[in-house]
Amino acid sequence: MARRTKVYEGKAKILYEGPEPDTLVQYFKDDATAFNAEKREVIDGKGVLNNRLSEFFMVGLGQIGVPTHFIKRLNMREQLIRACEIIPLEIVVRNVAAGSMSKRLGIEEGTPLPRPIIEFCLKDDKLGDPLVTEEHIIAFNWASQQDLDDIVALSLRVNDFLSGCMLAVGIKLVDFKIEVGRVWDGDFQRLILADEISPDSCRLWDIETGKKLDKDVFRRDLGSLTDAYTEVARRLGVMPANSAPATKPHLIN
Ligand SMILES: Nc1ncnc2c1ncn2[C@@H]1O[C@H](COP(=O)(O)OP(=O)(O)OP(=O)(O)O)[C@@H](O)[C@H]1O
Ligand SMILES: [Mg+2]
Repeated sequence: MARRTKVYEGKAKILYEGPEPDTLVQYFKDDATAFNAEKREVIDGKGVLNNRLSEFFMVGLGQIGVPTHFIKRLNMREQLIRACEIIPLEIVVRNVAAGSMSKRLGIEEGTPLPRPIIEFCLKDDKLGDPLVTEEHIIAFNWASQQDLDDIVALSLRVNDFLSGCMLAVGIKLVDFKIEVGRVWDGDFQRLILADEISPDSCRLWDIETGKKLDKDVFRRDLGSLTDAYTEVARRLGVMPANSAPATKPHLIN
């Protein structure tokens, strides 16, 4: 059997060459990392959950006209995506103060923000993904002013969509991170939503109890990450309550 070509292996996912030009296969690993990979662990079933959840959000966003890289889910851990040239920015949208913003600005975690705030971080693990301004982005040519305008509009649409999805199932979307890439249609370039949307890249708090249902469970040792992600998937109807994420093949007698 022909071996497929690995294009990139990151902390949470592997990219393989896809079956058609300009496509990739995105494989969701079970590895969890935090604090720039200083803390790491294998969490059984996380990849399966994130593959399904990212599919669910990308399909929904596609249905309301937000362009995404998602083509189709291939199996439990893999999806076929459109290859794009990733803009080297992590785009963070915040509705409630938490995490690094609370630390940086001394705003208590949980303080609602007067409006959604978008932050840009340079995608560079060696530098710890530092916060950058629009001035840096344009001066260093990471993206153009037009790209930034498009990124802001796209991010706010994603925020409205995800906030609504979550609110409907009793979850507050505190913040999330997205990545955006360029694709070319002939001579025209446009931006599409890439990477993933999952509880690895969002902060999700139960509205009633405040319980965390995202990667902070792992970062702060608050219990079972699989249970938290399964709860999100169950509430959204992405996975039935009784289907435990299977990680290994089972022998059926
Ligand atoms: N449609 C796409 N086309 C090309 N690259 C993509 C696409 N979607 C996501 N990627 C890239 O694939 C990689 C996914 O791997 P993973 O998320 O595990 O990386 P990581 O270890 O978090 O590192 P990074 O800091 O690069 O995200 C990321 O570098 C991401 O930018
Ligand atoms: Mg990543």
